[in-house]
Amino acid sequence: MTASRGELKYEGKAKRVYATANPAEYVVEYKDDATAFNGVKKAQIGGKGAINNAITAHLFPQLEAAGVPTHFIELLSPTEQRVRAVTIIPVEVIVRNVAAGSFSKRLSVEEGTELSRPVVEYCYKSDALGDPLINTDTAVALGWATPEQLSRIRELALSVQAFLVPYFAARGVKLIDFKLEFGTLADGTVVLADEISPDTCRFWDAQTNEKMDKDRFRRDLGGVEDAYAEMLRRVTAPAS
Ligand code: TMP
Repeated sequence: MTASRGELKYEGKAKRVYATANPAEYVVEYKDDATAFNGVKKAQIGGKGAINNAITAHLFPQLEAAGVPTHFIELLSPTEQRVRAVTIIPVEVIVRNVAAGSFSKRLSVEEGTELSRPVVEYCYKSDALGDPLINTDTAVALGWATPEQLSRIRELALSVQAFLVPYFAARGVKLIDFKLEFGTLADGTVVLADEISPDTCRFWDAQTNEKMDKDRFRRDLGGVEDAYAEMLRRVTAPAS
C-alpha cells in the first residue's frame, strides 16, 4: 500500500511530485508554502498542506464516482497522497459562477455579480508569463492540447462544476469560481489532476459572504489558517 518516494520529479509553488518504484504512480506532497501574484508574495500558512491534501482526498473519490476520472489513488500521510502518473496538460481551466478576481478586474464587473451561466476560461500554465488567458485555438495551434482533449476537458470541468456547486451549497458555502488542471495517462486518457482546495477555489460563506479561501492571504484579510480549517470541517461534514 505504501509508495516510497523516489526522485523528485517536479516542485511547484504548493506541492512536490515524486516518482515511485511503479512508473504508473507518483507521490504528491502538499506544502505549507503559499504564494500569490506569481510568487511575488510568499509566506507559510500553518497546516495548509495537510488541509489541502485532506480536502482533495475527500473530493476526488466523490468526483470519480460522479463520472470524472481523476489521478487520485489514496491518502498516504497527512501531507501526501498516491496518484496515477500523468503528464500535465499546460492549460489551466477556470470555471466561474460569480464575478470575482481577475474576471472582475478585466471586465470591470463588480465582485459578487452572479453570472447567468457558468463561464469556462483557459489560461496557459506558465509562471514566467503569469498564466495568461488564452482560448482553445491558441492551445491547439501551439500544440498544448488537441481539439478532442479540449472538448473532453470542458465536459469534465462542467461535470466538476455540476457536482461541486450543490455539494458546497449543502454545507453553507457558495462556490464562486475554481481552477482545475488535467493530465493524460500513458494510454492518453484525460483525467482530473492537481487539487481542489481553498488555494484553487473561491469559497464564500452562504450567509455572510465572508471569504473562506486564499483571497484572505492574497488580500491580507487575516484569519487565513482559521478559514482553511473551517473549509476542511465543512467539506467533510454531512450535507445539511
Ligand atoms: P482569478 O480570478 O485570479 O483569475 O482566479 C480564478 C480562480 O482560480 C480562483 O478560484 C483562484 C484560482 N487560481 C489558482 O488556482 N491559481 C492561480 O494561479 C490563480 C491566479 C488563480
